[in-house]
Amino acid sequence: MLLENMAYPEVERYLEKRDVVLFPLGSTEQHSPYGLMGTDFIAAEAVARRVGDRLSLLVAPTLAYGVSAHHMAFCGTVTLRPETLAGVVADVIRSFLAHGLRRVLLVNGHGGNVAPVQNALAALKYENAPGIYELVSWYDLPEVRQAAKELFGEEEGQHATPSEVSLSRRMRPDAFDGKPVRPAGRHRPEHHWPLNAGEFRAVFPDGRMESSPWLASAEHGEALLEKAAAALAERVEKCLRLPLHEPSESTGAAGRDGR
Ligand code: NI
Repeated sequence: MLLENMAYPEVERYLEKRDVVLFPLGSTEQHSPYGLMGTDFIAAEAVARRVGDRLSLLVAPTLAYGVSAHHMAFCGTVTLRPETLAGVVADVIRSFLAHGLRRVLLVNGHGGNVAPVQNALAALKYENAPGIYELVSWYDLPEVRQAAKELFGEEEGQHATPSEVSLSRRMRPDAFDGKPVRPAGRHRPEHHWPLNAGEFRAVFPDGRMESSPWLASAEHGEALLEKAAAALAERVEKCLRLPLHEPSESTGAAGRDGR
């Protein structure tokens, strides 16, 4: 159920029965000479939409930009400032809340988004916003980590991974026509983290981080997509069973414990 394809009376009918929305987040950034700029948002969107289909849940339009400053030495990468991403995510969630969508599942495809988005969620709770917000990075689900390890072992690496590239091959097979394939093999330099854009390119000159994206295939992508969707659906169903509490007016947010 894609929000972008619905008319408002359909959204009204959905809200009579449901209070949950899936919100995919990604990035537009280099993913090696082989992987697509859109890898992160294509993968997050695919996982969110499959879960949305399976559980008949609303899926919001994908946020295709994230915090990718460390990839800016590669042409085509776009970055938001961390505070911009946090601001956009908080405003989108405030809009959902205004319509009664109080369970917000953020389905993320990019590591650089995690800290700013967690900050946004903390800031919403600080201002006493109601509801349940959960950030799930599909690639970080234990079930997916295990499957990736079985498929690619040490060649998985940390960026431009054969897992994420497999999901994008599954979703956009034609986009890979003519992309250069190289033999597998890792480049495993000593480095610290975080890195700025110039440092990143100096340490990881072709943009991958200890990965062999060329091992990706649409078949692996389908298997990982299914694994991620099943694992995420379980978490969504758990979230649907949680009770919602009205915000307390007597308790100030400042100084309260996190959980
Ligand atoms: Ni990625």
